[in-house]
Amino acid sequence: MRKMGGRVLSVASECVPLVKTGGLADVVGALPGALAAHGWQMRVLIPAYPGVLAKLDRPRARAREVWASDDLFGGAARVVLGEVAGVEILALEAPHLFARLGGPYSDGSGDFRDNPERFAALCWVAADLAQGGDAAGWKPDIVHAHDWQGGFAPAYLRYRGIAVASVMTVHNIAFQGIAGAERRAALRLPPEAFVPEGVEYWGNISALKAGLVAADAITTVSPRYADELMRPEFGLGLEGVIAARAGVVQGILNGIDDAVWNPETDAAIEPYSARKLALKARNRQELLAEFGLGEVPGPLAILVSRLTHQKGIDIVPEAVAEFLAAGGGLCVLGAGEPWAEAALQGLAARHPGRVGLRIGYDEALSHRMFAGGDAVLVPSRFEPCGLTQMMGLRYGCVPVVSAVGGLADTVIGATSASLAAAAATGVVFHPVDALALRQALRKLSGLYADSIEWGRMQRRGMKADFGWAASAARYAALYEGLKRG
Ligand code: ADP
Ligand code: GLC
Repeated sequence: MRKMGGRVLSVASECVPLVKTGGLADVVGALPGALAAHGWQMRVLIPAYPGVLAKLDRPRARAREVWASDDLFGGAARVVLGEVAGVEILALEAPHLFARLGGPYSDGSGDFRDNPERFAALCWVAADLAQGGDAAGWKPDIVHAHDWQGGFAPAYLRYRGIAVASVMTVHNIAFQGIAGAERRAALRLPPEAFVPEGVEYWGNISALKAGLVAADAITTVSPRYADELMRPEFGLGLEGVIAARAGVVQGILNGIDDAVWNPETDAAIEPYSARKLALKARNRQELLAEFGLGEVPGPLAILVSRLTHQKGIDIVPEAVAEFLAAGGGLCVLGAGEPWAEAALQGLAARHPGRVGLRIGYDEALSHRMFAGGDAVLVPSRFEPCGLTQMMGLRYGCVPVVSAVGGLADTVIGATSASLAAAAATGVVFHPVDALALRQALRKLSGLYADSIEWGRMQRRGMKADFGWAASAARYAALYEGLKRG
C-alpha cells in the first residue's frame, strides 16, 4: 500500500505569530499543526520582513540556511529554516525586497510599486525548493499557494516543467496582484505565458489568475464562497476563470485554534463555559468599564474588524441608532480606511456612554471583547470565510451576520422555524444595507429580552465545533489525491 501523508510547502505572505494583517495569517499558522495529525509535514515559506528572524525560536545564528542565490530579482537572497510556536518556517531573506519599514505590502505612501516582483521572488524560491533546491534535501510533494502573493508559484512550476502538484487557495479575490504587461520578463515569465490561458488578464498580468489556471486544484475558505466566486458580483472579473475549472474547485471551511480561542482556558479573560455561563457577566462588566460605558440594559454588541468597505462598516452608524436608543451598547476595535475610522469616531461622539471605540490592533483586547460582548456584528459585503463570527460563537457572543460566504455557512439564523427546532445560533440578514442591519438588531434585542431563549442560543453556539480537525482532514485528502509518484 502507498504511504499516506508527505510534505507540503505552504507559500504565503503572512503567518501568525510572525506577521498578520488579517485572517490569512491565522489560517497559514494553524494549518501545519492541524495537518500533522494526518501525516503531512507542512513548512511555511514567507518573506523575512523586518523583525521576522528575531521572532523565530532558534536564534538567527543557529537558524539553518537551506537555499541561497546571488540574484533573486535583483539582489542576494537566502532562505533560513527556523521554527515558531511549533511551526517550521522557511524565511526568505532578501533585503532589497523585504527589509522595508511599514507593513508587508505598503508604507505610509501607499502600496510598494514592486509588490508583484517581491512576491514573484517568493514564488520563484518556492519553485526552486520544489525542484529539489533545498540544501538539506527537503523536497515537497505538494506546493500550497495562498492568495495572489502565492499565485506565481503554480505558474513557475508549470513553465519551468517542475513535476510537483500544486493547490491554489483563494482567501480573498479582491486582491489579484496586477502588473503591467511590460513587466513580464522582469517577473521571469516566458513569452508563451502571456495568453488568456496563462497569466494574461485584460492586457495585464495577474498573479492570482496565474495561480488559478496553473494549479492542479483550487480551494477557497468556505463552500458558499466557492459557489459565489463563479458569479460576477463576487468573482470580481475572475468568475469565468474559476467557473471554467469548477471540477477542481472546492470550499474548505477555516477553523479557529481551540488552544487560543477557548473561554474555559483563555488567560486574557475571567474564564467561563457553556455550563457556567453566568460567569461571563464579569467580563461584560469589565468590558463596559474598559470602554468607559455606563449601564447598558440591552445587548452589548462588539465589532472587531478591519475597517473597510468589504466589512460593511459604512452601514453601521445609521443602522445602530435605533438599537442604541432601545438600550443597546457597542464596543468597536479596528483600524483601516480613514473614512471608516472617521465615521465610527462620529458615532462614538454622538453616543457617549453607549458607544466605545478603539482605533488600532490589539489581540488581547479582542479576547476581552468576545468574552464581554453579548453579540458580535459582522455586516460584510463579502466574506470568504470570516473568523470573528466563529470566535463569537465559541465565546457565547451571538453573531449578527450578513448572508454571504463563510458567514452564511457557519451561523444558523434565528427564525421561528430554527428556534422551534432548537437550531438557531445567531441572526442572519440580507441584503447588506442599513435597513436590514437595523431589522437584524431589532431581532437581536427581542431575543436578548427572553433570557431563557437567549441562553439556549449562546450555549448552542459554544458547543458547535469550529476546530480544525474536519477541515484538515479535507486538505489531507486533497493532497493525497494530488500526490505524484
Ligand atoms: P479578514 O482576514 O478579512 O480581516 P477574518 O475574520 O478572516 O477577516 O480575520 C480577521 C482576524 O483579525 C481575526 O483573527 C480578528 O480577530 C483579527 N482582527 C481584526 N481586526 C483586529 C483588531 N483591530 N485587533 C485585533 N484583532 C483584529
Ligand atoms: C481573508 C478573508 C476572510 C478569511 C481569511 C482567512 O482575509 O477576507 O474572510 O476568513 O482570509 O481565510
